[in-house]
Amino acid sequence: MNFKDQIDVNRLPQHIAIIMDGNGRWAKNQGKFRVFGHESGVLSVKDIVEGCVEIGVKYLTVYAFSTENWNRPIEEVNALMELLISTINQEVETLNKNNIRLNAIGDLKSLPQKCIDDLAAAMDKTKTNTSCTLTLALSYSAKWEIVEAAKKIAELVKADNLNIDQINEELFASYLTTAKMPDPELMIRTSGEHRISNYLLWQMAYTELYFTETLWPDFRREDLFEAIVDYQKRERRFGKISEQLN
Ligand code: FPP
Repeated sequence: MNFKDQIDVNRLPQHIAIIMDGNGRWAKNQGKFRVFGHESGVLSVKDIVEGCVEIGVKYLTVYAFSTENWNRPIEEVNALMELLISTINQEVETLNKNNIRLNAIGDLKSLPQKCIDDLAAAMDKTKTNTSCTLTLALSYSAKWEIVEAAKKIAELVKADNLNIDQINEELFASYLTTAKMPDPELMIRTSGEHRISNYLLWQMAYTELYFTETLWPDFRREDLFEAIVDYQKRERRFGKISEQLN
């Protein structure tokens, strides 16, 4: 039986987060430039988004560019930004036709102006779509996001618009970039690395982690379905004991 048929559609993760890793190694394995790996990685993103829509996953968040990625060679950073712009512009109509909303989180103002403008236009065009929300984490890091939330809350307290006693987990989460999304139940990282790499640290407090050796450009929806089947076999106890769950 294929993996899709093994999925229990009544227990789907609502939100899947992905660290798309291994593009550079995939390209190098074939004697190609790293950017070829990123270009091929876009095909994986497309297939995974389609896979999510096919089975009914409502939120997909992909780590497309981390704060730390700014430290890569300038040629690679520029190539990634250009790829981002061309992909957004090429795919916006398809996203719209498939009722997919495009969203972005991160320090977006640090992106090149064309990227900011095209991203804003694509997000605006797709903002009422409801089948799935595809969030690109761009110039994103979880520590950055947490510090930003803390600053906003501190400003409110300073201006006497918020009492310190009103600060709780719910309020804090409402100042994060993911405020309107459920926390991811499943996080997938490709390419055999077993790290979180500053991704959604707050939101992943209880997320199930799935690591695969597959390099991102080789990752397709059947691999996604395999990860979901694995997720559904796990017992999510949230600190309780097994006997308390039913
Ligand atoms: C990690 O592989 C991948 C990235 C830092 C960029 C991911 C970007 C894409 C898949 C393309 C853009 C996406 C969209 C949605 C437009 P790596 O370069 O770290 O690979 P390595 O670990 O093998 O060097």
